[in-house]
Amino acid sequence: MTAHPKMPPVPRQILTGKARLAGVLGWPVSHSRSPALHNYWLSRYQIDGAYVPLPVEPAHFVQAVRGLQAVGFRGANVTLPHKEAAYAIADDLDHSALRAGAVNTLVFQPDGRIRGVSTDGDGFVASMEAEGLAPKGRALLLGAGGAARSVAAALQDYGMEVAVTNRTAERAEKLAEALPGLGVVPWSVWEEQLGAYTLLVNTTSLGMEGGPDPMFRPSLRHAARHLVVADIVYVPRLTPLLAEAEQHRLKTLGGLGMLLHQARLGFREWFGHDPEVDADLEAYVRASV
Ligand code: ATR
Repeated sequence: MTAHPKMPPVPRQILTGKARLAGVLGWPVSHSRSPALHNYWLSRYQIDGAYVPLPVEPAHFVQAVRGLQAVGFRGANVTLPHKEAAYAIADDLDHSALRAGAVNTLVFQPDGRIRGVSTDGDGFVASMEAEGLAPKGRALLLGAGGAARSVAAALQDYGMEVAVTNRTAERAEKLAEALPGLGVVPWSVWEEQLGAYTLLVNTTSLGMEGGPDPMFRPSLRHAARHLVVADIVYVPRLTPLLAEAEQHRLKTLGGLGMLLHQARLGFREWFGHDPEVDADLEAYVRASV
């Protein structure tokens, strides 16, 4: 019998009454890769635990979190549109959450307090480091939404000089108020100014399959030879931006690594094991996309 490509690498563990529980709160949540990712790790490490999708309407968010605490969950990931509500409900906010202005990981403490963490930015940096790329020099980020803020904050914390450029200038200015030292580049000129940067990161959904502009392929004509081009979009694997970068023989970084690395902290906190990100996991999650 041939194995189904989506099969976990080891048989699913049967849950006992002591199983550790976590999940992802979102609305909708059906698109989330987090259940596939966490359950892969639970299987691999033979952990008595489960990670479930939790579709929750915004109006029921607080009630849902209190309910999860009441039934003994260890915590939860939080995805759109709940990241600000998660920030508000947390009793203790990590440095990462304060910098990002949002929370994507809730850790329920035994004393009933909730710790809020934002792991997206550090996940991005970890995915760079896993590819042997150092977060050094000057970064230019496309976009000024929530993803831009967490990546910008993390890169600043690693000592990079960071600028953002965004179609809607006011939004970029607003982000610069939240993150002191952040530069703002007009959307109309960023391609020409690219020569001044060591890292370019697309934090928008431009180039994403089914997104606002799947063909988004800016000019990298002015790029310096050492420019690293990163995309947080991971469907498709080779976005038009990354294809353009390859054409210019620039180093590239796809978005899947960030998704995998941002999940590690939650898994460690809830299930007590520091999980590995490797090629098998990447292939498994990609097959489930
Ligand atoms: P997230 O929180 O996931 O980053 P978001 O807050 O909706 O998502 O941000 C989406 C980003 O994609 C924004 O920077 C947005 O630019 P605007 O602020 O001008 O809306 C950017 N974006 C989306 N569609 C775009 C398009 N067609 N052209 C340029 N930028 C676009």
